[in-house]
Amino acid sequence: MSSFIFNFAGDNNESETSDTKKTIWYESNEVIPKKQIEGWDEMIKYAKIFMCRDVTIGHITNIKLDETLGKDVNFAERCHSDLIPGKYEGGLKLWECTYDLVEYLEEHSEISFDGAKVLDLGCGIGILGIYSLLKGAKVTFQDYNKEIIENVTVPNVLLNTEEEDTEYSIDMCKFYSGDWESFNEKLEDNFDIILTSETIYNVDNYEKLVRLFENRISDNGIVLVAAKTCYFGVGGSVRQFEKAVSDSNLSCEVVWKNDSGIQREILKICKRS
Ligand SMILES: C[S@@+](CC[C@H](N)C(=O)[O-])C[C@H]1O[C@@H](n2cnc3c(N)ncnc32)[C@H](O)[C@@H]1O
Repeated sequence: MSSFIFNFAGDNNESETSDTKKTIWYESNEVIPKKQIEGWDEMIKYAKIFMCRDVTIGHITNIKLDETLGKDVNFAERCHSDLIPGKYEGGLKLWECTYDLVEYLEEHSEISFDGAKVLDLGCGIGILGIYSLLKGAKVTFQDYNKEIIENVTVPNVLLNTEEEDTEYSIDMCKFYSGDWESFNEKLEDNFDIILTSETIYNVDNYEKLVRLFENRISDNGIVLVAAKTCYFGVGGSVRQFEKAVSDSNLSCEVVWKNDSGIQREILKICKRS
């Protein structure tokens, strides 16, 4: 998938222009995971495999999940929309920069996950967090929609864990829903590695993201942001995000760029020394 599909069918208040509308973001909350999944056999039937180099991670698809996904995600799905700002932010799908980031991590074995504290920010189906967990990290998964965490991210963690290890694996993880600003306020943890893919499409969120990175990376920690160079039709871009970072106490460099197809990049962000 390369770009966002919009369908603002929910905007039925024609007297309000997009300038006067302000997105109301949901508050962040910790989501306490169930350690067993109902309807497991049925879900497995619809599982797919994420494959990148030697990495294989199973993940369930949204088929058969309709009833459990809540009204916002269901509404977005019915409208075939990847984005309804403040309601659904695209977490149900696997976005292509996730592949770039896994490939980058596979090529950079000096980035050590064993015992590291990792945040998969805007995790969606959770591939980056599961990758980190399987490499021995303690992982915090965050997605905007609670229903996605409960019905997709947590089952995906379980799907990739040996049955006898499920309790241990879930205990190595934390899960949060809601907006980045309130997530940052609620969190007490710092992270060695923050991984985030396809999360810089909305310029309105840049300040929140930069604050979160400033507050939540440990002194020697790194943030890796995988993104398209430009989000046409949505407004965000890597250059604009770099600008937002440059006004903070963080430093930022492009560590990877693709050379064909839609332009994509990976940014590495650290605390300024
Ligand atoms: C396009 S999806 C990318 C999902 C996943 N990282 C991937 O690459 O497949 C954007 C992600 O950012 C999260 N997100 C977007 N805006 C957010 C906000 N303001 N607060 C919290 N999460 C947000 C969404 O819930 C979703 O998980």
